[in-house]
Amino acid sequence: MKIFSSDTRSVIINHDKAYKFFNSRSECEDEVKRLKKSPISEVYDEISNYKMKIVKILEVKEYFYSMDQAKGETLRLSQNNKDFYLAGRWLKCFHDLSINCNNKVFLFGDFIAPHLFIDHESKIISTIDPGCDFGVIGEVETNISRFIVGLFYMKNFNLRKLNKNINYFFEGYGTKNINFTNLDKFIKYRILRNFNKTNKLKTGIKNYIFALIYLVIANFKYLFIKRKLNNFIKFT
Ligand SMILES: Nc1ncnc2c1ncn2[C@@H]1O[C@H](COP(=O)(O)OP(=O)(O)O)[C@@H](O)[C@H]1O
Ligand SMILES: [Mg+2]
Repeated sequence: MKIFSSDTRSVIINHDKAYKFFNSRSECEDEVKRLKKSPISEVYDEISNYKMKIVKILEVKEYFYSMDQAKGETLRLSQNNKDFYLAGRWLKCFHDLSINCNNKVFLFGDFIAPHLFIDHESKIISTIDPGCDFGVIGEVETNISRFIVGLFYMKNFNLRKLNKNINYFFEGYGTKNINFTNLDKFIKYRILRNFNKTNKLKTGIKNYIFALIYLVIANFKYLFIKRKLNNFIKFT
């Protein structure tokens, strides 16, 4: 049995099932409602030959719901390049199911590396934990920027690896549908938003200084990535 806990939620994993507990009924109800709206349950990607899934709900109670345990490893910066290519493929398949003529898509909300589980044995990629914006119709760059900024805030300082992994992500997603001027704007906005959010949640001078250090590091990582990315894709 494994237990994951935050201030407001706990997840218990037991016998191939995950149980997610909430502090209030409404939080639980809202998350289940969002998950049920998903355009993806299972899609076979002919390009990567992997199955793209969102975790399946099994049972819903007042304060918790249960789901299948997502198999495989969560995506980490130390993992191989192919995994980032696959993360790009997952998002592309997800967007393709909802993209409209204005290039707008069904947002995932919290599309970050720790929410992706890659199982090479069964060739299945599962995602968990849709964010509050799951289901909102928005720009493709919103989901992409969330993913990239999530990587900047990870405790990893291997910039070359970060750069390589992001390039692989773009290789998986493809660059055709991305407006890079928008993406640049969204990434900058999101880096600052993370800083403001941390300050709201954690008060005190010590926390402020930590948040500031993370902000500077994230901006530095972005500068490095952007310089390198320009060779691969031109900001429009
Ligand atoms: N279906 C699942 N299969 C495997 N692990 C899971 C599953 N759901 C949650 N977890 C684990 O529990 C952690 C917290 O779950 P998550 O849904 O992200 O909670 P929160 O809403 O607090 O972010 C995840 O990072 C993951 O490690
Ligand atoms: Mg989460």
